[in-house]
Amino acid sequence: MKAVSYQGERRMAVTERPKPGLKEPTDALLRVTTSGICGSDLHMYDGRTPLEKGTVVGHEIMGVIEETGDAVRSIRKGDRVVLPFNVSCGYCHNCYRGNTHACLTMNQQPHAAYGYAGMGPYQGGQAEYVLVPYADFNCLKLPGEPGDKFEDDFLLLSDVFPTAYHATELAAVTPGKTVAVFGAGPVGLLSAYCSLLRGASEVYIVDSVKTRLEKAREFGAIPINFEDGDPVEQIRQMRKKDSAHQKSLRPREADKLTGVDCAIDAVGYQAHDEKHPGKERPSQVIDSCARVVNAAGNICLIGVYMAPDPGAKDEQAKQGIHPLPIGELFDKAVTIGMGQCPVKKYNEYLRDLIIQGRAHPGKIVSHHIAIDDAPDAYEKFNRREPGYTKVLIRFEDAMAA
Ligand SMILES: NC(=O)c1ccc[n+]([C@@H]2O[C@H](COP(=O)([O-])OP(=O)(O)OC[C@H]3O[C@@H](n4cnc5c(N)ncnc54)[C@H](O)[C@@H]3O)[C@@H](O)[C@H]2O)c1
Ligand SMILES: [Zn+2]
Ligand SMILES: [Zn+2]
Repeated sequence: MKAVSYQGERRMAVTERPKPGLKEPTDALLRVTTSGICGSDLHMYDGRTPLEKGTVVGHEIMGVIEETGDAVRSIRKGDRVVLPFNVSCGYCHNCYRGNTHACLTMNQQPHAAYGYAGMGPYQGGQAEYVLVPYADFNCLKLPGEPGDKFEDDFLLLSDVFPTAYHATELAAVTPGKTVAVFGAGPVGLLSAYCSLLRGASEVYIVDSVKTRLEKAREFGAIPINFEDGDPVEQIRQMRKKDSAHQKSLRPREADKLTGVDCAIDAVGYQAHDEKHPGKERPSQVIDSCARVVNAAGNICLIGVYMAPDPGAKDEQAKQGIHPLPIGELFDKAVTIGMGQCPVKKYNEYLRDLIIQGRAHPGKIVSHHIAIDDAPDAYEKFNRREPGYTKVLIRFEDAMAA
């Protein structure tokens, strides 16, 4: 079978690999129909994770069940399913409580995923076939036929749609609240989308890639380009000019409420310095979130912070240690949430929003490619080439089979 594998810094290749076989009676073999390339894959591509050369990558996976082990009960050959990027057992202390992003049994670390550095031995899904452990627990069944109008929407249930929803959950977005999202990549765009889905009154989104900001405007978010000046100040000025908001405030309140209730970091440790966009500044977005959030507000760090980070500039950063504006955060009595998304907590609900026509996350998808074009797509996505927002690998042969 064909698979995309890591060959060293900024090198991906499509190579022939043996088709995986079932190892445990609880396993299933999946024939992949669509697989996503994620912003998280770019950390590996950039050499910013301790990833072994030759690893088959890809954690955003959907397809059709080809074969099941003897102990698998709820799915069978021919079922159309999507996988959470988290690999989880379903029976450990954390899985039992719904925290499948912190599964205790599938890896040395308390988390596991397909095709990812430090996340266990699971082969990635940017490949024609993938092995699914504990298939009863890890497969979400989908209606319809491979390649139908929901193919993109359903693929995004593997990661970025639930991840963005989780970001709004950790940032405590509820009806009427104001939100600032940093990063207008797939995760940031869908964080803005989910904020609006949850009834936020105003959603600002910050980036410098104009085509991504335009996409956000289509959803109803307010785009802020950090190359036009300090994004926190831009948001504050806009809120000050909003006379309806100003008139609703009591004396002494006004100047303390020009920030937002909820701030979401959808960028992570490879953030660009707002003042020098060519340079990296890992704590840039944490600083901006701390400044833009109102007192008693919420911050969610959904963008990844990595340790170890072999490509970092200094010794502290190589261990994932970055300075935090802890005084300001404490003064403001801010609540912070962070970490990987427990996809299984949300994917079934979000699937049903898609089926009922209430959510259409697939509108962020910009490109469909064949697997042979993956190395080129990595290069373009990594450059954040204009219009190159979310790339999906389509296995046309698999869909036609
Ligand atoms: N927590 C999770 O479970 C989870 C899941 C998926 C992805 N992620 C992470 O989310 C992050 C975003 O991934 P993505 O798929 O959206 O792709 P992406 O990496 O393309 O998106 C990042 C965006 O941030 C922008 N950016 C860079 N510096 C910025 C700054 N200072 N201010 C505002 N914007 C800035 C970039 O231009 C880019 O558009 C990554 O770190 C990824 O690893 C986390
Ligand atoms: Zn992903
Ligand atoms: Zn578990």
